[in-house]
Amino acid sequence: MIIIKTPAEIEKMRKAGKLAAQLLNYIDPFVKEGVSTLYLNDLCEEFTQKHGAISAPLNYHGFPKSICTSINNVVCHGIPAEKDILKSGDIVNIDITVILDDYHGDTSRTIMIGAVGENIKKLVNRTEKAMYRGIAAVKAGKYLYEVGKAIEKYINKFGYSIVQTYGGHGIGKKFHEDPHVLHHFSQDNKIRLQEGMIFTVEPMINMGKSAEVETSASDGWTVTTADGSLSVQFEHTILVTSGEAEILTVV
Ligand code: MF3
Ligand code: CO
Ligand code: CO
Repeated sequence: MIIIKTPAEIEKMRKAGKLAAQLLNYIDPFVKEGVSTLYLNDLCEEFTQKHGAISAPLNYHGFPKSICTSINNVVCHGIPAEKDILKSGDIVNIDITVILDDYHGDTSRTIMIGAVGENIKKLVNRTEKAMYRGIAAVKAGKYLYEVGKAIEKYINKFGYSIVQTYGGHGIGKKFHEDPHVLHHFSQDNKIRLQEGMIFTVEPMINMGKSAEVETSASDGWTVTTADGSLSVQFEHTILVTSGEAEILTVV
């Protein structure tokens, strides 16, 4: 069941989304060669508390940290750690979700560290563009599958693959609620969009031919590409309107 948000709820989602965006902008300049992902985690936790909010990932189904940090071949749900020191040539996705006044804001971006290869830059820029193509396909009265259709149409020509195991999600008082948003075209997303729906668009694009992913047996969280290739992700939380979708995770 997809919850249609009331105007009062939408106002709270704007505030939560804005705080998530502010936090992502705050942490971005710290994401540099030589820093550990745990250090970034701790700065984010401190910022979140200072702003009267809660880090949604912390203890979410047992997740042990406040943000997700996914380096190189990690697709999503990477756990910040002291031993994970960023080095030149790496890419890292920083995924922020805050709870402010009971409502969630969820956003992520992939940041390039130092000198990264030209093919990696292309993958990063194209994945961000794919997210915006998906968002641009959202409008009340259309089907949700237009998101996946638009992303697929843009991404397929590069020979990359779109992760299907994880998707976007409705979001509000709950971190993850209906609908499950697919980043590839599927009739499973033949869902009519209505004004007041709020969900994330968060494509994960693998550089290689395989969309397959694996979950770490040792920590139960870290998702990696099955073929070891790089994976990039960007995410925004958006509101369906009668016109262009409103991006909530902006400053
Ligand atoms: N922020 C992720 C998403 O975009 C979810 C992280 S769940 C966690 O949906 F438990 F790993 F934090
Ligand atoms: Co999300
Ligand atoms: Co997220």
